[in-house]
Amino acid sequence: MLSGATFCITTFGCQMNKHDSERVSGMLQKLGLVPVDTVADSDITVFMTCCVREKADERLLGQVASMKNTPVRKESPFGKRYVCIGGCIGQRDGQALLDQLGHVDLVFGTHNLNEFPLLLQECVEEGIRQASVRDGRADFPDNMPESREHAWAAWLPITVGCNNFCSYCVVPYVRGREISRPFEEIATLAQTYVAEGVKEITLLGQNVNSYGRDLYGKPRFDDVLDAVSASGVDRIRFATSHPKDLTDSVIERFATLNNLMPALHLPIQSGSDVILQAMNRNYSAKHYLDLIEKLRQARPDIALSTDIIVGFPGETEDDFLQTCEIVEQVGYTQVFTFIYSKRANTPAAELVDNTPREVILERFERLRTIVENGALAANKTYEGQRREVLFEGAAKKGTLVAAGKSEHGLTVHAEVESESLLESLKGSIVPVQIDEAKTWYLVGKILDS
Ligand code: 5AD
Ligand code: SF4
Repeated sequence: MLSGATFCITTFGCQMNKHDSERVSGMLQKLGLVPVDTVADSDITVFMTCCVREKADERLLGQVASMKNTPVRKESPFGKRYVCIGGCIGQRDGQALLDQLGHVDLVFGTHNLNEFPLLLQECVEEGIRQASVRDGRADFPDNMPESREHAWAAWLPITVGCNNFCSYCVVPYVRGREISRPFEEIATLAQTYVAEGVKEITLLGQNVNSYGRDLYGKPRFDDVLDAVSASGVDRIRFATSHPKDLTDSVIERFATLNNLMPALHLPIQSGSDVILQAMNRNYSAKHYLDLIEKLRQARPDIALSTDIIVGFPGETEDDFLQTCEIVEQVGYTQVFTFIYSKRANTPAAELVDNTPREVILERFERLRTIVENGALAANKTYEGQRREVLFEGAAKKGTLVAAGKSEHGLTVHAEVESESLLESLKGSIVPVQIDEAKTWYLVGKILDS
């Protein structure tokens, strides 16, 4: 009944959500559905949602509302468009979302992604609308086909869920408790990917460093890194790391595993110990800086990036200045800055929050300037160097500038002579001479390898 119909997936939020979308796509393609790029061309539209900040909530509601005015495709086998909402908002709101949005047909959650095709089939065949959300799950969700966005890059989730309960964060409530994927499965998947021509594997988890804690304490994340490295894949990355769980043994892998890329995303959130404690982060600024020093000892050229929340309840000017100081001191290549967003039912939502909005916005702008200056300074250190770049495609549609990622995870742009050369570069690792640093990318020339 579904075979031949078209579908389009719109994804919000983190890499885990993007990977879940690859699974939704894989499951629908297995049923004979055809992926399309635009909502207008789709018979089935799926929104994979995020609720980590309020803005993401608002964007979803705006996009879903606009679906009412998008005409049904002429060739639609159903005479209507099916609108489905999955991911974290689906998990959080369930039936309420279906009640609120009369033109939504199906709501599903993060724990029953694998049931999505069946639920959709029921909607179509029985002419029903439904919300189906489960409270949690006992084992790692696998055995779902996936359709990767890029043939040469694979996301490989090694844990799902989070046990950390940072006081501002909704993730533990919508993604559930942490479950580690069986070790052998990770090792086998890595080998399969390599056999399929994958050049880069990114290990995923809300906190990859606590891998194995639920599996009798062994194997742990360092063992995972060794096993994935042994697959012979060109590039390994991982996200995200929690500073309280990053062990010396994992840090050492940056010195010893030649396919572990010299880049690490290590969210600090704040440079003030008072705020870190209120955030329930369980480390101090000093501990974080000690980790940075160890990482640089292991791999002097390691590129570091981080997340920072500005305007957490009770943040004083002095707390904020401590954050700025650390940003200047560490020299990040990239910093993702967020304004604190109150999330219902999280512990931080109960805290007194009396910093005026304009003070928070001014701090945010001040930090942004520091971040931009720091990123440019960090990028300048690459000028004149030869780097290996994994190319992904055109920097901007229709231009003859190819874009890819260096070993350090930095975006590199390089001019190419023709469309066909650009096409052939996709998925290849090619040497590039870096000529110029910009704030958010590097510009270079492709070298003959
Ligand atoms: N408000 C603002 N930022 C948040 N993050 C998580 N929850 C919130 C929130 N309530 C940020 C953190 C995290 C990143 C993924 O999103 O910095 O590391
Ligand atoms: Fe949220 Fe903290 Fe878990 Fe990250 S570690 S997902 S910030 S609770």
